Amino acid sequence: MHKNLFLAFSSFFITISNTILGTNDTFNIENLQFVWEKTPNFYKSKKVFLDAFTKCYDTIDLKKLKKSSKEELYLWLDETFNNTFEDYQNNEEQLWLTIKLANHNIGFLIINISKYPDEIYLEQFAVNPKFQRKQIGTSIIDSLVEQFPECKKLAVVTRWVNYQSVNFYKKYGFVESSYTHPGLDPKLYGGFEFIPKKHQDYFHDGSMNKES
Ligand SMILES: CC(C)(COP(=O)(O)OP(=O)(O)OC[C@H]1O[C@@H](n2cnc3c(N)ncnc32)[C@H](O)[C@@H]1OP(=O)(O)O)[C@@H](O)C(=O)NCCC(=O)NCCS
Repeated sequence: MHKNLFLAFSSFFITISNTILGTNDTFNIENLQFVWEKTPNFYKSKKVFLDAFTKCYDTIDLKKLKKSSKEELYLWLDETFNNTFEDYQNNEEQLWLTIKLANHNIGFLIINISKYPDEIYLEQFAVNPKFQRKQIGTSIIDSLVEQFPECKKLAVVTRWVNYQSVNFYKKYGFVESSYTHPGLDPKLYGGFEFIPKKHQDYFHDGSMNKES
């Protein structure tokens, strides 16, 4: 599906009404806006990305990340975001979902729909650390499944050392798979996939699961 075609058919402003959150601070998940953007804000998104990954990698041994210092790690994250943003701009089959709260960007998800409806690949995903563990990530994946009911599979590749991400996908119901990209070391990166309930009667090759 083409990016422009998708945007033409989808609603630009999707407010998720959700009552799953029971928290005693001022945050209310009902106030989140999920916005498919053609031209996302580079700086706001970069801040979310850097804050999220800096916090997430803060507790991980730099050697496991193959970095010699925090500065090197930060520069690598900075460059990773720049490349991610450029890839998005040059790829018509990537879509960008920004999560906003009172006009602040608090998260984003980039998906690749080149194999839709067989698969949606999660390219990048981050939530502002101040808003993590409030079920926002879960709501984003829920909304993806809801908005793309024909999608047979969600796939993602993540670093094994990123326990936050690995835990998140496992908790959501993703299972480990052989999914990977050329050149990625399977000792460092793991593939995960999630088959939405309505498609669970089908094997990955599209044939029916006769035992179910
Ligand atoms: C992964 C990420 C997007 C999850 O967002 P989130 O809004 O915090 O996720 P949720 O609140 O919906 O968490 C759902 C479950 O995931 C697991 N999880 C999330 N963060 C976790 C953490 N820091 N440690 C352990 N488990 C975690 C928990 O099981 C959690 O359920 P619980 O809070 O009831 O125990 C967020 O942690 C993030 O931005 N991480 C840094 C960037 C990143 O790793 N992106 C993914 C790259 S593929």
